[in-house]
Amino acid sequence: MNKADIKGKWALVTGASRGIGRQVSLGLADYGCNVILHSRDSAHTATLAEELTAKGVQVKQVAAELSDETQVDAMLASLLSDGPAIDIVYNNAAIMTAYRDKWPVVPSDDFRVSFEVNVIALVKICHTLIPGMVERGWGRIINVTSGIADQPELIAYAISKAAVDKYVKDIAGRLKDKGVLVNLLDPGWLRTDLGGPTGELFRAQDWANKQI
Ligand SMILES: NC(=O)c1ccc[n+]([C@@H]2O[C@H](COP(=O)([O-])OP(=O)(O)OC[C@H]3O[C@@H](n4cnc5c(N)ncnc54)[C@H](OP(=O)(O)O)[C@@H]3O)[C@@H](O)[C@H]2O)c1
Repeated sequence: MNKADIKGKWALVTGASRGIGRQVSLGLADYGCNVILHSRDSAHTATLAEELTAKGVQVKQVAAELSDETQVDAMLASLLSDGPAIDIVYNNAAIMTAYRDKWPVVPSDDFRVSFEVNVIALVKICHTLIPGMVERGWGRIINVTSGIADQPELIAYAISKAAVDKYVKDIAGRLKDKGVLVNLLDPGWLRTDLGGPTGELFRAQDWANKQI
């Protein structure tokens, strides 16, 4: 995406309150893109909303716990009925369940909640917003994945990200001729609440320079 493509368009960024979602939102605003900031509670994005507004773009805030399908449905219904047309989606929000150092003892709930938040909500957001993008002949969906490998202690998280990869690979081909590009973004290991204290520093420039 280059600057001219996205100036004045609206992007939805899930998990915008901190970490990578916050940096993505700031980057989009620097390109003149209006942003809908998602988190679990609008209070979490209040300061960021002010920062983005000061950059001269329009900002909206939405809240939904992504493991709760009712909240996801309500958020999407309100975006479709009241919101502007959404041309860009960063499905960035995700959870990583606890490090199970007693692997192969892994609670089934790790898989359930990982799939609810990291896969099912993500797919629902895509499937709700894709028809409008197709109708308008332009859309960009960036689903945030992970290169996590060989860490069975985090297997629920890893499998959920593999499911995101499979989803993108299977749908991208159906949409690219309609002007809707669906991509995966693996940010690498970064020092965020999810990534922990030993992740590399966020290299915003690395992904910003990629044509996605
Ligand atoms: N950091 C890394 O090293 C790394 C590496 C590879 C991939 N990734 C991927 O990058 C993405 C962002 O990671 P991050 O490190 O920036 O995470 P983070 O700092 O933990 O931020 C997570 C964001 O997601 C939201 N969120 C968390 N649980 C949620 C839930 N149940 N329902 C709705 N929203 C929820 C949080 O909102 P609240 O403010 O409401 O909590 C927050 O905005 C994720 O997809 C992650 O898998 C990260």
